[in-house]
Amino acid sequence: MQKIDVVLGSFFGDEGKGKIIDFISGNADIAVRCTGGNNAGHTVEVGDKKFAFHLIPSGILSGKDAVIGNGVVIDPKVLLAEIEMLKKNDIDVKKLMISDHAHVIFPYDIQMDKLLEENRGDGKIGTTARGIGPAYCNKFERSGIRMIDFIGTKFEKLLRVNIENKNKIFSAFGQAQLDANAIFEEYRIYAKKLKPYVIDSVNFLHNSIEDGKKVVCEGAQATLLDIDFGTYPFVTSSNPTIGGICTGAGINPHQIGKVYGVLKAYSSRVGAGPYVTELQNKIGDTIRELGHEYGTTTKRPRRCGWLDLVALRYAVRVNGITDLVMNHLDTIGKLDKIKLCVAYMYKGKRTTDFSTNVEFLEKCKPVYEEFEGNFGDISKIKKFSALPKKAREYVEAIERHVGVKVSFVGTGPKREHVIVR
Ligand code: IMP
Repeated sequence: MQKIDVVLGSFFGDEGKGKIIDFISGNADIAVRCTGGNNAGHTVEVGDKKFAFHLIPSGILSGKDAVIGNGVVIDPKVLLAEIEMLKKNDIDVKKLMISDHAHVIFPYDIQMDKLLEENRGDGKIGTTARGIGPAYCNKFERSGIRMIDFIGTKFEKLLRVNIENKNKIFSAFGQAQLDANAIFEEYRIYAKKLKPYVIDSVNFLHNSIEDGKKVVCEGAQATLLDIDFGTYPFVTSSNPTIGGICTGAGINPHQIGKVYGVLKAYSSRVGAGPYVTELQNKIGDTIRELGHEYGTTTKRPRRCGWLDLVALRYAVRVNGITDLVMNHLDTIGKLDKIKLCVAYMYKGKRTTDFSTNVEFLEKCKPVYEEFEGNFGDISKIKKFSALPKKAREYVEAIERHVGVKVSFVGTGPKREHVIVR
């Protein structure tokens, strides 16, 4: 049986997972998305076309079976728009499969996300306002509506009960009431349209694996946004780490092979929360412009900073990362000098142990090693040994500190701009 390869974000998301997913799914039969919802977003460029994905595994572009696992929360409107976008580009959408146990996002989740965020005052998380957190709350509180319920006969009843309950909360907050009739009429059409794609994804995946099929799991968000292992409360409401891959698709740890941890040659974060290596200065602004660091989903400017190896070591520990995938070596190589955070100073002591405790991170000062930049144009280089010495030194320092090989190095924005080692 073939092992399942997994792609995960190592920091705060937006590491460029799409490119490596696209690369490794070349040898795969099935691409699976396991967690999160349309808070995620990545753009894949094929030829002169750009495809923006929020929910559908991008492996569908290369004709793979694309499964949205049970751990995902689905906004049906967004999913249907994505299906339309693929159809318009003559991509075979029959390859799309949606887990019958994935949960559905409704307008009350979006309204609740916005309401809770507004009421957080200066403790705002900076959510994407897509209803992700409330949808997971419903799932765990057991009032969630799964795909199987959504397309089944109980849908109307479940929806009406939920809207009645949510309206009581909205009314307490002086918010507008939701119209159950209008929502039901709108959403039952979405349910009808999505019904043909809904399957028992757990058995489908296991049967396929037993038949010798190769599966890749496309992680969304990233380690430091994990509800358990991220910088809580400045996190998303799912487990984008390795455990979420298992529970979000119904696969077991023995089936997992490679775990690719994706990072950039610098770092970035969207939304609030601690960020030890953030650069709130001209260098940070330069990195943002050079790396086009604006959100795919929300278009928000991303906070930018140096690469943090203390956090990366933690991501390796938590996820069992076997290979690192580093994007934007070309971007960082445009600076004169580059810094790499190799340790933190906390209360006068040096440490390389990361903690997601917000107070700890707010007090930590980064310890940097400095490297030479100005790598020149490296976009056409295909061999690691052909990179300029200063670029190799930077990559090798990362490997030395973290103890994991950088197996893929991104040298430019396009699919082909990659060095495979
Ligand atoms: P939520 O997932 O919309 O609840 O947002 C919670 C936090 O996670 C916010 O800081 C978001 O900006 C962040 N977040 C969620 N999804 C992503 C992502 O795909 N990339 C980067 N940040 C994300």
